[in-house]
Amino acid sequence: MDFNTILVEKDQFLAEVTINRPTKLNALNKETIKELQQVFKALEKDKKTKVVILTGSGEKAFVAGADISEFANFSVKKGEALAEKGQELLFNFIENMKTPVIAAVNGFALGGGLELAMACHFRVASDNAKMGLPEVSLGVIPGYGGTQRLPQLIGKGRSMELIMTAGMIDAPKALSYGLVNYVVTQEELLPLCRKIAGRIINNSSVAIGQAIKAVNAGFNTTLDGYATEIKAFGKCFGTADFREGTTAFLEKRKANFPGK
Ligand code: COA
Repeated sequence: MDFNTILVEKDQFLAEVTINRPTKLNALNKETIKELQQVFKALEKDKKTKVVILTGSGEKAFVAGADISEFANFSVKKGEALAEKGQELLFNFIENMKTPVIAAVNGFALGGGLELAMACHFRVASDNAKMGLPEVSLGVIPGYGGTQRLPQLIGKGRSMELIMTAGMIDAPKALSYGLVNYVVTQEELLPLCRKIAGRIINNSSVAIGQAIKAVNAGFNTTLDGYATEIKAFGKCFGTADFREGTTAFLEKRKANFPGK
């Protein structure tokens, strides 16, 4: 696959996707959103890819938001369609992927950029990262799931303040809020993400996919998280990964999961 705005590198079971518009601070324009949709769809299907790391190009930004120049003259209908399609085809898609996606937040993650990082399964930040949802300063609100995922991650009161003030928080504050799991230097960011990815890759990808589904169900008001967990738990018993994992344990050896 050839892309203009993103770079994709694969190394064994790990795929790294880099949003590559550094002169525009990796702002999400139409083309970038489309290319991200295509690549994540392909990675989800790719049996070999067991973890994805998503980051931004350059030293300044993960993603500085949706490309403001593209929606400045949208109508009510077009605005609604932008949010609806974006949520469905990219942000919700990533959140519900059975392949874990780690956001390596290497600088500004604002608006759609923070929403993208929040759609990933968890986040690691570099110490220069700054995060916020500044949409109300433009007369609009977060539309790619930000009003829902930010409160899930940091609580309602903090989210209300961050959204209303259109403010930014730095990496240590994001860490103390639980918005990111670790803060390291820029040089250490990708190595740490790769190290965590390596630990994930050793485990059953089928079980991880079921765990993601069960965790997400608890945040979906139309689903019953506990009931989803019961079904997902049961499903694991019919997998080759479960047979291998339990057999390896009983034989006192390291499991070699077939991923099915
Ligand atoms: N959409 C479109 N272009 C963007 C952008 C966005 N969200 N964020 C940054 N850019 C572009 C700038 O227009 C500029 O392009 P130019 O060089 O052609 O003029 C380039 O990226 C560099 O940005 P600049 O503003 O010069 O960098 P800075 O270091 O002075 O400021 C920010 C960095 C992140 C504080 C600032 O770019 C900003 O506030 N961006 C918008 C953030 C936002 O509101 N996002 C939510 C959108 S819904």
